[in-house]
Amino acid sequence: MISKAVIPCGGMGTRFLPITKALPKELLPIIDKPCLAYIADELVDSGISEIMIITAPGKTAIEKYFKFDAELEDTLMKAGKIKEAESLRKISQRAEISFVCQMEPKGGGDAIYLARDFVGKNAFALALGDDLVYSPDNPATRQLAEAYERTHKTIIGVQEWLTDDIVNYGVADIDSSDGRLHKCKIIKEKPPLNELPSRLACLGRYIITSDIFDILRTQKPGRNNEIQLTDALNSLCLTEGAYVYEFEGRRYDMGDKFGALTANVEFGLRSEFGARFKDYLSDLIKSLKE
Ligand code: G1P
Repeated sequence: MISKAVIPCGGMGTRFLPITKALPKELLPIIDKPCLAYIADELVDSGISEIMIITAPGKTAIEKYFKFDAELEDTLMKAGKIKEAESLRKISQRAEISFVCQMEPKGGGDAIYLARDFVGKNAFALALGDDLVYSPDNPATRQLAEAYERTHKTIIGVQEWLTDDIVNYGVADIDSSDGRLHKCKIIKEKPPLNELPSRLACLGRYIITSDIFDILRTQKPGRNNEIQLTDALNSLCLTEGAYVYEFEGRRYDMGDKFGALTANVEFGLRSEFGARFKDYLSDLIKSLKE
């Protein structure tokens, strides 16, 4: 059973400036909850009980969101806002969440290496802080954890990606297949369109064996002079082997303005005021066509 997860939240969020000057991109809201909270919920719903969030200097708001705030709860209770107080308490109770700060932006691989003592010897889940997946009946991390139970090898979550922006992702070169599960030869990071090894893009969900830490310990900087996760995953592919798994679910790129907008619209339609919002959108679309 996979019980621990790591969420690296180090990126600067340059695609989402200027708001990310003051707010970590992982806290950008979908209606009233930050993206990161949806990701933590996915992990808990997948059987994870301990989460380590890797933050960066200037991102203390992430810790503030998840930590219990006795003073605020007290104020709400005194004001008779019991429901609100209870919902805040739930945030800190769902899982055991710890934080570590990556002091310098030395890359995703370097961030994950900071979680080595937390992870210990077992395989762990990795969820990237700006990839959101909606799959309420079968959360993405649970799907990957089940694939791990079958193989006991590293599992990289992918989906078929047919548009040209696939060049912004890691793309899997695969070998033999068994349904949604494919043996991974290598991940090509952000390949040009004429060098795509497949249409299977890595979308921010992984189950990784703890052997990755031995690789990261001595790994030289790669692209952008940073310690890259993909380089370490490729070392795992070549040594103990790894698989890619085509998970089900609607994925949103929350680091991108358009991605975040679509997430807000679609979660709005699924919310308690979904019917009202749908009427509003229908009227709006009609008026745009007139
Ligand atoms: C990272 C990974 C890439 C993956 C992507 C998913 O890239 O390196 O393989 O496809 O996340 O969002 P980044 O977005 O940090 O450049």
